[in-house]
Amino acid sequence: MSRTVYVNGDYVPEGEAKISVFDRGFLFADGVYEVTSVLGGKLIDFEGHKARLQRSLHELAMQSPVTMDELLDIHREMVRLNEIDDGLVYLQVTRGSGGDRDFVFPSDDTVPSLVLFTQSKPGITDSAASKTGIKIISIPDIRWGRRDIKTVQLLYPSMGKMMAKAAGVDDAWMVEDGFVTEGTSNNAYIVKGGKIITRHLGNEILAGITRAAVLRCAKEAQMEVEERSFTVDEAKEADEAFVTSATTFVMPVVEIDGEPLGDGTPGRVARRLREIYLDESIKAGI
Ligand code: PDD
Repeated sequence: MSRTVYVNGDYVPEGEAKISVFDRGFLFADGVYEVTSVLGGKLIDFEGHKARLQRSLHELAMQSPVTMDELLDIHREMVRLNEIDDGLVYLQVTRGSGGDRDFVFPSDDTVPSLVLFTQSKPGITDSAASKTGIKIISIPDIRWGRRDIKTVQLLYPSMGKMMAKAAGVDDAWMVEDGFVTEGTSNNAYIVKGGKIITRHLGNEILAGITRAAVLRCAKEAQMEVEERSFTVDEAKEADEAFVTSATTFVMPVVEIDGEPLGDGTPGRVARRLREIYLDESIKAGI
């Protein structure tokens, strides 16, 4: 079935969508994005994604082509037109086209490009991976120094997923100066003695919207949370581990670099947090 996508003010069949070859998103990865999950036809954590988008735009001195209120309307219209029950809305803003290839940013009156599309993922909350957990490897983190900005420069994370695939596992955690930064497309956590440990925020990682919500849920449920760096060795000694993102929610990790964690099945804390997070976020969906 052909999807309806949104391109610079128009809702069009995906086969008819057009973007300039001079668009800086295409030529320089000069763009930012957000992925908002849809459950039961409702947008999950939309306010958080909207706030982070504004921050990413601000950090790169990029304008938004529409107001944030319009953005919500466009998301809702995309969900409606594409009849999304469970799935996601992808949004991308780029600096647009200055009419040629030029490293220097185009003039301030250049209109940014705005693109949205949807992906339908029926039964996403009940995925097989959420029952078995995922296996990961560790790889060096060689990304640029502003990972707090959600840019579309995803070549290394993409290569990381390929390294994981080649190793016969599901994903990779990236390591810098001996410490885990994050997963290729998710935030990383370990659990030891009931305490949830995840890297503190900074330029080294993306401030996950799911991370914020899950830590809030954990604190509400009286679970202990510590925001600090941890090593791969510490992770291998942990009782359990998990990742969070808008597309995986809370996903248990059961193996790191070939070594099973605990008894090699999803841990109790990760399972409980997944349940609480899904429950709360579906209730709060808009
Ligand atoms: N990725 N860290 C990285 C590097 C990410 O790419 C993501 C999200 C996260 C988690 O952020 P959030 O909880 O806001 O989804 C952390 C999205 C899902 C993606 O690229 O598809």
